[in-house]
Amino acid sequence: MKTIISIAAGLVAGLGPVFAQDFPDGAGKDVVIRTCGGCHDINRLKIGYTAEGWRTVVLMMQNMQTPVTAEQWPVVTDYLINKIPERARPSAVIVPGPVQAEIKLWPVPTGGSRPHDPLAARDGTIWWTGQLANRLGRLDPKTGATKEYVLKSPHTGPHGLTEDAAGNIWFTGNNLGLIGKLDPQTGAVTEYTLPDPKARDPHTLIFDRDGILWFTVQQANMIGRLDPKLDPKSAIKLVMSPTPKSRPYGMALSSKNEVFIVEFGANKIMRISGADMQIKEYALPDAGARPRRLAIGPDDRIWYSDFARGYLGVLDPATGAVKEWPSPSGPKSEPYGIVFTKGAIWYSESGSKPNTMVRFDPATEKFQSWAFPGSLGGDIVRNMDVTPDGNPVTANSLSNEVGLVTIK
Ligand code: HEC
Repeated sequence: MKTIISIAAGLVAGLGPVFAQDFPDGAGKDVVIRTCGGCHDINRLKIGYTAEGWRTVVLMMQNMQTPVTAEQWPVVTDYLINKIPERARPSAVIVPGPVQAEIKLWPVPTGGSRPHDPLAARDGTIWWTGQLANRLGRLDPKTGATKEYVLKSPHTGPHGLTEDAAGNIWFTGNNLGLIGKLDPQTGAVTEYTLPDPKARDPHTLIFDRDGILWFTVQQANMIGRLDPKLDPKSAIKLVMSPTPKSRPYGMALSSKNEVFIVEFGANKIMRISGADMQIKEYALPDAGARPRRLAIGPDDRIWYSDFARGYLGVLDPATGAVKEWPSPSGPKSEPYGIVFTKGAIWYSESGSKPNTMVRFDPATEKFQSWAFPGSLGGDIVRNMDVTPDGNPVTANSLSNEVGLVTIK
């Protein structure tokens, strides 16, 4: 993501008028054209949202201090709602089945937080990254009590989230190119700046069993390794992915303490291991596959959500064999956050309306699914985690919620 400064650069380069032809006329269009391509591609507006969805997006962009005046915001909001309706989305296909489960969602305190990743902490609390609110938050699902921690640097863009053995909460500072550590006792944050300015978009992160923190750097096409025992200035090593533009994305750890990563820009999965960060890649058979997240079962097979094609897949890294199943809500169901728990795969379809929680039983190869509750239908589960007692947790970025799936 570019900084706010590049808005001016975009205007100088005359990008506004080029985009202007693509958007319908109406009051507020000029402000949208002038402003909304400043930090990201303006064309991402075109996917469209419901009125409630747009209102949440506006809160998010206000949190990001998008340069629109107080008088202009209502006009811009009306323009977005009336001129850019939600894209066509597949209706959720709900598959009945034998398992009892209940989804509970809690709104997070700060509007437009864009809860990106959840973390089920060992003490039973559920954490989230408030990506656009510069906060980490914590929920006690027993009482509903929440606490938010404002981060040290403005616009850190907290994204991935994990916990170390001492209970510190680690996150990727996506917008500032850093890895952060929050001490929940004091609220103090330690920042580890990535040692290469090209290393933009630090994304997901996990600890291996030796206490080494591994992370993906999506846009820069890199993988990082952080040794918390070292000084923050020399703790991080980075390597390039062997495949150009492979967009290293979701991560999971095998029982052999190996880190597996899905490449969201390619039809590949990689394994990375050791202090020398050796990489081995596995190709998926369909060239159009774009695995976005993954989960590893006790037999060390790699389950992946193929966002682009609407499939659930499994790779056996011992043989390279791959098997795939179409997701219940079809090719545009956009399978995304995924975990393995209680003997089954649980993942969310983020394209269907409403979003679903899907269970897949590897023994019977049968699907079962549930609809997310709420007026925004749980949009969008970008990542999941599992509580110590085996229940999936979610962060729901557009509906501004965190969730717990209780498996009965
Ligand atoms: C100051 C920077 C900035 C400006 C200016 C900006 N955005 Fe954004 N926008 C972001 C960031 C950061 C994200 C989330 C990270 C990402 O995916 O890039 C985002 C994401 C979005 C999304 C995706 C939201 C989702 O969760 O699905 C939409 C839609 C969007 N912006 C619309 C707009 C509109 C409309 C405007 C103009 C009114 C605008 N943006 C101006 C920073 C900005």
